[in-house]
Amino acid sequence: MSLTNNDTLLQVNNLKKYFPTPHGLLYAVDNVSFNINKGDTLGVVGESGCGKSTLGRSILRLHEPTAGEVIFEGKNILSLNHAQMKHMRKDMQLIFQDPYESLNPRMTVSQAIQAPMLIQGMYKSKDKAALEKRTLEMMDMVGLARRLVNSYPHELDGGRRQRIGIARALALKPKFIVCDEPVSALDVSIQAQVLNLLQDLQEQLGLTYMFITHDLSVVKHLSTQIMVMYLGQTVEIGSPDQLFHNPCHPYTKALLSAIPIPDPEIKMERIQLKGEITSPINVGPGCRFAKRCVYAKPECHERSCEMTEVESGHKVACFMVKDMM
Ligand SMILES: Nc1ncnc2c1ncn2[C@@H]1O[C@H](COP(=O)(O)OP(=O)(O)OP(=O)(O)O)[C@@H](O)[C@H]1O
Ligand code: SF4
Ligand SMILES: [Mg+2]
Repeated sequence: MSLTNNDTLLQVNNLKKYFPTPHGLLYAVDNVSFNINKGDTLGVVGESGCGKSTLGRSILRLHEPTAGEVIFEGKNILSLNHAQMKHMRKDMQLIFQDPYESLNPRMTVSQAIQAPMLIQGMYKSKDKAALEKRTLEMMDMVGLARRLVNSYPHELDGGRRQRIGIARALALKPKFIVCDEPVSALDVSIQAQVLNLLQDLQEQLGLTYMFITHDLSVVKHLSTQIMVMYLGQTVEIGSPDQLFHNPCHPYTKALLSAIPIPDPEIKMERIQLKGEITSPINVGPGCRFAKRCVYAKPECHERSCEMTEVESGHKVACFMVKDMM
């Protein structure tokens, strides 16, 4: 079990989420552990299908975890009943990749922002004036012009729709937000605006984020810690500085080598990942990256490697690194 201190907001211990499929169990999240301190951002990266969204949703119990612990402010939320969990959801919110997923096309901006507050009982529908005042405050907070209050999602561009998604998440005054690829669906020109907004809101409101993305360069600037996932497991975790300057896991190195470096003086060899991707269904023993790893040795196919600390706060799951210590 990892150590916690007074600053820890969220502690995740050995979290597992397995989905039953006709061919066997799909190991979407398998034994993932980490802590996030108050006001910090954990960036979660890895390629499509590695379990990032399932991890985020399992922490919020939008998927019921198969095993493990999710300790939020000292309480294991997996032991809460339905009513207690509904109450806890105020503190733990989700921002979706595609706001269309969370926005009802028949709801106006104000109805969309008000819905979570009404569901959670923060306001009653008869408190019309207070609810409208709060809605406009939320729109100001996320930079949505007040004139859009009666617009429908299809009348707005992606950036504005995402601002509604952010306002909905913030309406309940949460402490922790899972941001699941919140800018991936947006035009590049709008991505920076939404990222800046999320950073400003974090500072203003003291929010704690888990920020999911497949793009390491996005999380570099906004994370306190970065966790790299591969096929449901953590392969490396550390500060952005540790991961960018001393990447240890062969998969992290390959991810980093794919980021274009704007400085022509710096040359980094692109590591192409070859080989078959291991199926996440009925995974056997051994390192899940072994079929694509140029350093793999027989041991790697036979048993899994535990996370090992290589420097303070920097952990890696790889035999090659372990053997050098
Ligand atoms: N409800 C579900 N039932 C069965 N399998 C699922 C379910 N949701 C996700 N999976 C599987 O779990 C694995 C992890 O999926 P997940 O969506 O968490 O990955 P991801 O890292 O978020 O990918 P992406 O970057 O494409 O969003 C995948 O193999 C996926 O097919
Ligand atoms: S444990 Fe072995 S196969 Fe896995 S990443 Fe390390 S060297 Fe490669
Ligand atoms: Mg996802």
